[in-house]
Amino acid sequence: MTGGAGYIGSHVVRLLRDRGDEVVVLDDFSTGRASRVADAALLDLDLSSPGAAEILRRTIDEHRVDGIVHTAAQKEVGDSMQRPTYYMQQNVGGMINLLDAMESSGLHRLVFSSSAATYGEPDTDEVDEETRCDPINTYGETKLIGEWLCRRSADAWGLAVFSLRYFNVAGAGWPDLGDTASLNLIPMVFDRLVGGDKPRVFGDDYPTPDGSCIRDYVHVLDLAEAHLTALDALDGAGHSVFNIGTGHGSSVFEVVEETGRVTGLDATPEVVDRRPGDPARLVANVDKAAAELSWRASRGLSEIVASAWEARTSH
Ligand code: WQD
Repeated sequence: MTGGAGYIGSHVVRLLRDRGDEVVVLDDFSTGRASRVADAALLDLDLSSPGAAEILRRTIDEHRVDGIVHTAAQKEVGDSMQRPTYYMQQNVGGMINLLDAMESSGLHRLVFSSSAATYGEPDTDEVDEETRCDPINTYGETKLIGEWLCRRSADAWGLAVFSLRYFNVAGAGWPDLGDTASLNLIPMVFDRLVGGDKPRVFGDDYPTPDGSCIRDYVHVLDLAEAHLTALDALDGAGHSVFNIGTGHGSSVFEVVEETGRVTGLDATPEVVDRRPGDPARLVANVDKAAAELSWRASRGLSEIVASAWEARTSH
């Protein structure tokens, strides 16, 4: 499990260990927290560093690893536009070392954390896996290149790999695994509310029913369960891509209103300027994961916001 000390990765680690799987957690702890994966076997390693492929190959052999879930990556969209080479070095360089280590150790089973950012600003109500990918930021480009590397590795040496395109992940499966980085809407709204400030809506003049952007918010526990389902479904060489979302859209105003209901605080927002690069609507068509993985999200927005708030207030 690479990135296993991260917000999403630690949920996957806990589910794997709860079902009795032995897990080795690889993380460089640049954003991950060891406290999330307390007594798991840890490998403190920057996957993009020189010599990482050989270290990972040895770890695969020593622990007789039979599959990898790869979530380790730098994921700040805005930062990626300021530091494009760093993001390519980290995310693509790390992917290259991971694939080289897998090939040399004969390990052929991989689940890759991709992103809806690969789509960019699609001009369609629902995004399915055949929708054209035209990322509008460096982060999204690193994820699309990661998918290309997966596909070429499947063709070249028989890798069996699923790329999971995450939509907007939020919530907490357990209070101690909450998202501690304030990089996304729900934690950012909580920051404002806790600070006694109004939540900010980045633009209310989008072509949507209430004018604010619409996204597909998926509970991190649903997403983590999708990783185990995908890992167990890997069979035979090849690369497939799956949207991991709910198929339902929520607007920024709707999410902010839900935070008011859950926290009991006055969540009346202030509307500020648009943020560059925000598509008006990004909602997943999730039929492929349902049909081919028998996976569907089961948790909705209220459970997402409530679990995120519980994690926020208990740690
Ligand atoms: C959601 C909506 C904002 C904060 C990003 C990445 C994507 C993925 C998920 C990694 C947008 C609005 C936000 C605020 C607001 N990350 N907003 N006020 O941009 O959809 O996706 O995170 O895989 O790759 O692009 O998520 O949570 O940043 O924003 O109005 O205080 O909320 O404008 O419309 P986004 P987000």
